[in-house]
Amino acid sequence: TSTYRITLLPGDGIGPEIMAVAVDVLKTVGGQMDLAFEFEEALIGGAAIDATGEPLPEETLKTCKASDAVLLAAIGGYKWDTLPRHQRPETGLLGLRSGLELFANLRPATILPQLIDASSLKREVVEGVDIMVVRELTGGIYFGSPKGVFETETGEKRGVNTMAYTDREIDRIGKVAFETAQKRKGQLCSVDKANVLEVSQLWRDRITALSADYPDVALTHMYVDNAAMQLIRWPKQFDTIVTGNLFGDILSDAAAMLTGSIGMLPSASLGASGPGVYEPVHGSAPDIAGQDKANPLAQVLSAAMMLRYALDQPAAADRIEQAVTTVLDQGYRTGDIMSETMTQVGCKAMGEALLNALS
Ligand code: NAD
Ligand code: IPM
Ligand code: MN
Repeated sequence: TSTYRITLLPGDGIGPEIMAVAVDVLKTVGGQMDLAFEFEEALIGGAAIDATGEPLPEETLKTCKASDAVLLAAIGGYKWDTLPRHQRPETGLLGLRSGLELFANLRPATILPQLIDASSLKREVVEGVDIMVVRELTGGIYFGSPKGVFETETGEKRGVNTMAYTDREIDRIGKVAFETAQKRKGQLCSVDKANVLEVSQLWRDRITALSADYPDVALTHMYVDNAAMQLIRWPKQFDTIVTGNLFGDILSDAAAMLTGSIGMLPSASLGASGPGVYEPVHGSAPDIAGQDKANPLAQVLSAAMMLRYALDQPAAADRIEQAVTTVLDQGYRTGDIMSETMTQVGCKAMGEALLNALS
């Protein structure tokens, strides 16, 4: 038996609901494939603020560091939106990413054939879409200094954030992106705003220089405004996309919608060494929290990514992805992916359907 230590961070809103489904799925697959999971639950986000006053207690970071992988659901909610910045749930998530040095966020957007009708775009536009967004996760405008709200000489308030990247930061995310593209169709599109921003010019120059080491990858560059448009116009032109923290945040939500719902998109946040964090692309969905309406599939697929990337258990990952395909074939749909002739179910019932599909 292989034993793995997994830190669970259910967080806020729909987080605990979708996490419960993923844990049931992992336990079932573990039992079938002789994998033992030692789950340790820890606090992050609003749940941590309520219990300890801080969005990322020291204890949580310690537990994460001592584990083989971290499975995170989502953080945030109206209740904490007016707290000072350092006490907000989002600050906890950013602290987790920087604390574990998770500079590379892989966000695959793949359309499953069963969900083509759930996409808001036409069948011929989305059929066969398979994009990997490689988002830089510990730099850029999310972390640059100076930052804050300052008073000017004339007594005005001035809000400041700084978009900055060092050549080292660009090179390390660039390498991950080229290597990712090599394992895919060999096409890499680097997205920036080099026509306006100095930081983007450096980004473009470094990515271009790196490409000499990857002759088997076809590199193109695109401005971020055009990229947003092209993702909706003809997404099949993209294979692998590499971009900075903020552009990647925005473009990956747009890419998510190609697949029918943001409730379908998993992600992996990885560093050079140490445990990675596996988390859905979506947030805590406070508008549907506590109503058993959430789609748990992004969380379940994040658990599959964890098995594949962190634990080197591809057969177990395949099994989970197969169960997702099966329940969709059987017609089970949560509200966000509902279309005619399908069976609308809640989060729990989707979980039960998955367990049946696995048995
Ligand atoms: P969101 O992703 O939580 O929700 C956007 C919309 O998508 C909502 O209508 C929601 O109901 C729907 N949705 C999201 N996930 C779904 C699912 N699994 N099933 C069905 N529908 C789903 O984004 P938001 O509303 O902008 O943010 C809400 C909170 O989440 C904020 O506090 C934000 O900071 C936080 N957030 C956290 C993360 C994270 O933890 N990684 C990511 C994004 C947003
Ligand atoms: C995400 C979220 C986070 C981000 C927030 C909640 C800090 O939107 O994971 O995509 O902007 O990175
Ligand atoms: Mn986001």
